[in-house]
Amino acid sequence: MSSKPRQIVVTSALPYANGPIHIGHMLEYVQTDIWVRFQKLRGHECTYVCADDAHGTPIMLRAQAENVTPEELIERMHKEHLQDFTDFGVAFDNYYSTHSEENRFFAEYIYTQLREAGHIRTRVISQAYDPKAEMFLPDRFIKGECPNCGAADQYGDNCENCGATYAPTDLKNPLSVVSGETPIEKDSEQYFFKLEDFEDMLKAWFDAGHVQTEIANKMNEWLEEGLNDWDISRNAPYWGFEIPDAPGKYFYVWLDAPIGYMASFKNWCEANDQDFDYYWNKDSKAELYHFIGKDIARFHTMFWPAMLHGSGFRKPSAVYCHGFLTVDGQKMSKSRGTFIMARTYLEHLNPEYLRYYFAAKLGPGIDDIDLNLEDFTTRVNSDLVGKLVNIASRCAGFINKTFDGKLSAELSSNALSQQYLDAAETIAGYYENREFGKAMRDIMALADKANQYIDEKQPWVTIKDPARHHEVQDVCSIGLNCFRQLVILLKPVLPKLAAQAEEFLNVENPGWTELGDNLLDHRINRFKPLMTRIEPVFIERMVEATKADLVAEQKIQQGPGDSAHEAIAPEINYDDFAKLDLRIAKIVAARRVEKSDKLLQLTLDIGSETRNVFAGISNAYQPEDLEGKLTVMVANLAPRKMRFGVSEGMVLAAGSGDTELYILNPDSGAKPGMRVS
Ligand code: 2FM
Ligand code: ZN
Repeated sequence: MSSKPRQIVVTSALPYANGPIHIGHMLEYVQTDIWVRFQKLRGHECTYVCADDAHGTPIMLRAQAENVTPEELIERMHKEHLQDFTDFGVAFDNYYSTHSEENRFFAEYIYTQLREAGHIRTRVISQAYDPKAEMFLPDRFIKGECPNCGAADQYGDNCENCGATYAPTDLKNPLSVVSGETPIEKDSEQYFFKLEDFEDMLKAWFDAGHVQTEIANKMNEWLEEGLNDWDISRNAPYWGFEIPDAPGKYFYVWLDAPIGYMASFKNWCEANDQDFDYYWNKDSKAELYHFIGKDIARFHTMFWPAMLHGSGFRKPSAVYCHGFLTVDGQKMSKSRGTFIMARTYLEHLNPEYLRYYFAAKLGPGIDDIDLNLEDFTTRVNSDLVGKLVNIASRCAGFINKTFDGKLSAELSSNALSQQYLDAAETIAGYYENREFGKAMRDIMALADKANQYIDEKQPWVTIKDPARHHEVQDVCSIGLNCFRQLVILLKPVLPKLAAQAEEFLNVENPGWTELGDNLLDHRINRFKPLMTRIEPVFIERMVEATKADLVAEQKIQQGPGDSAHEAIAPEINYDDFAKLDLRIAKIVAARRVEKSDKLLQLTLDIGSETRNVFAGISNAYQPEDLEGKLTVMVANLAPRKMRFGVSEGMVLAAGSGDTELYILNPDSGAKPGMRVS
């Protein structure tokens, strides 16, 4: 290992701010985090930045559906995402947002540089337009019948039934997802990035090995077909940055998304007194790595290097793609309960189980990674609990009880410790090359050696003979020193376990270079269990909870539908039901909400107090018809901040959509405040 620290900037893809993080996302963040932690453990200056990808039509529409501003939506998502990452042990140096002043600055700067160098041109094109919602429609917001197999309700870009890909104009009987109206074709001028200007640069860049071979092959195929202009603009209404000198035109979200890496890094530089230009100038000696999924390779290995090159910045040292996550051999599925949200996982299982399992399965390539839930249980229980933690729990008791917590002043043999040290450089090489599976395999083989050693020495037998107590202390001191080394080797993968183990061993944050420093004549602390077994029932509960999560999420995403034929939600138990506090409420006042075409503001009397509630029923009821009516409300729903004020509960209504809504009325005799059960 060279003694001069490397200066490394690392990124993971920026998650969209319109939905929660799931374990498929988490594969990438765990992969990146392990690599970053490894670099830091080796003494390098490694900075890991990320951000929410906060622009684009889906975010704009989701905010509308939730009756909040896009700013409120992205702020809430940012908090939720960061909490999920933090709880999974993903330690960003900065987690920012693409909706930031730094990002606006760099997006405008890069665009202007490209324009001045002649890499931007405009053209009038025809696109799908929703005449009712008065907006151009992205492909995903048009649905219709598949032109290939005739399946109904397919998106404008591909058919989920037969897998065909096509243009939205090919769909039969297309409808706008936003308004339900038939889209029309409408002309408008758009701004294009001339990718063809960068053909030679890209070819040389791929040949120089900055991307994995599989990806380079694919990109070279596209190069050979000839590079099309890339449309980097979108018409208002759009949620993003307006293009300088082009009123009503916005940067397409994919233009400012990767620039978000720079913006987040710039924001980190400002807070940490670092020189941004040193890292991003075109001759920079610092290293820059992007970890991404293979589905977004083209953006990162063609568009992004071309944008950087054309605007005078450095290009990435490498872009590392990974495959998708499957669960039990299949695409993550909502109905099977395998589309698992990070938060749901965290409510049921220790995040380090999954970090380890991902590490054990990850290689440097783009193959998909399967989370087999049975194998996951067996592997974690056998490797982490049965092998790793077992070494400490077998040795700690003897040292604590018989030797007052003291390890031997010298060891009878250095053989195991030396074997570990000898293996460490190979393991470091595996980490460096993202061959985490191989690293885990070698580390577990070392753990096996320590367990075999303890098995052979049988301290539980020798402890019975006081004359041989020093042997027990020696064996257990050797065992615990092996454990210490294993913890260092696994620290990039299991940071939480490592922190607990360091507390038990009474050591302070040892780095990779301290692997060979045995603890001698050293007092350890009491041993507390470092990790418990996974019981299959934990997994079952997580899968059931996942099925329930998705009903709520689908409602927001699907919007209006035929609720009489909606599938019944997954079963819940009585305790879940009993958490709801439903009360009879009297609508004492109802009024329209200015600037909202859906909401009525209701003042509800629930006996003990009055509540302010916003209800999306203004297309179904006139406010005056509601005043004086009794209905049912959820009284213990957490207050929700909306654009127009805080909503303190929810009234119950049957049906769906805007007009087909019927609020519930109790039978005569019910009084405000009565509990409904
Ligand atoms: O595919 C996605 O989820 C994008 N939000 C990734 C953006 S990565 C980077 F370019 F910002
Ligand atoms: Zn089809």
